[in-house]
Amino acid sequence: MTTVYLDGQYLPIEQARVPVLDRGFLFGDGVYEVVPVYDRRPFRLDGHLTRLRASLEGIRLADPLDATRWREAIDAIIAAAAWDDLGVYIQVTRGPGPRDHAFPQQVHPTVLIMPLPLPLPSPQAVAHGVAAITAADTRWARCDLKTIALLPNVLLRQLSVDAGCAETILLRDGWLTEGSASSVLVVIDGVILAPPPSTQILPGVTHDVVLELAGAHGMACAYRAISEPELRSADEIWLTSSTKEILAVTRLDGQSVGRGEPGPVYRRLHALYQTFKHEVMRGGGAA
Ligand code: PDD
Repeated sequence: MTTVYLDGQYLPIEQARVPVLDRGFLFGDGVYEVVPVYDRRPFRLDGHLTRLRASLEGIRLADPLDATRWREAIDAIIAAAAWDDLGVYIQVTRGPGPRDHAFPQQVHPTVLIMPLPLPLPSPQAVAHGVAAITAADTRWARCDLKTIALLPNVLLRQLSVDAGCAETILLRDGWLTEGSASSVLVVIDGVILAPPPSTQILPGVTHDVVLELAGAHGMACAYRAISEPELRSADEIWLTSSTKEILAVTRLDGQSVGRGEPGPVYRRLHALYQTFKHEVMRGGGAA
């Protein structure tokens, strides 16, 4: 049985119901998070809850729970889950109300927390990398908010599914932004490069872990804009996300990236990431 948290109640997922007038259903008026959990310990929970608060503030929705209640509810969903490794999906919408674009007079947010399977990349994908395509970034102007209004991301991701690829990498006016559901980093001349934080990009929690690890191990990193020609000629391209962890892109639009195999900088960082994850999570230290 899968147990979910809905508006203060713990229920079997089959019994969890949301009214058709919920603004998440009618308008995509809400925000979400996906928190990876290893060995029943949430990874970077503070980072995810901080980003959730920023997303809520960005859509002018008061945080419905305090930090202690978020943690209690998340812990209860993890304890009830069928798996030791999972994703915790958190969604907050502006709740039910008459169908009117303007906010309702009285807002009663809908809070859902549910477990998801965590399909981590296969050993094959880690060893050989994955293929990606590029597409124009057709999303809105506040991609820094993690909103549930994901139709552009859905359509962009499907382009790569249709092409038999793992991700669609997005370019806005000729500059790299991110993937349809992941952050993108590149390596040029041995330096790990990330597009600077902006309203065009989600601040990725995994991306931050990767850059912290790189910095802590003396690897060169910088934030700077990456042009389309630089992306296409990069030595390495990586995707990062809570579900992909860190994955090398070895083919982009049918062309080899670097030598067509995960590069040396990727291999080092992937190993550092796995060690960090295992030490912190399995060893019980603070994430
Ligand atoms: N997506 N950029 C976008 C557009 C994303 O959707 C995601 C993650 C990321 C990476 O963020 P993080 O490292 O914090 O997971 C970047 C999640 C996993 C999802 O929508 O399922």
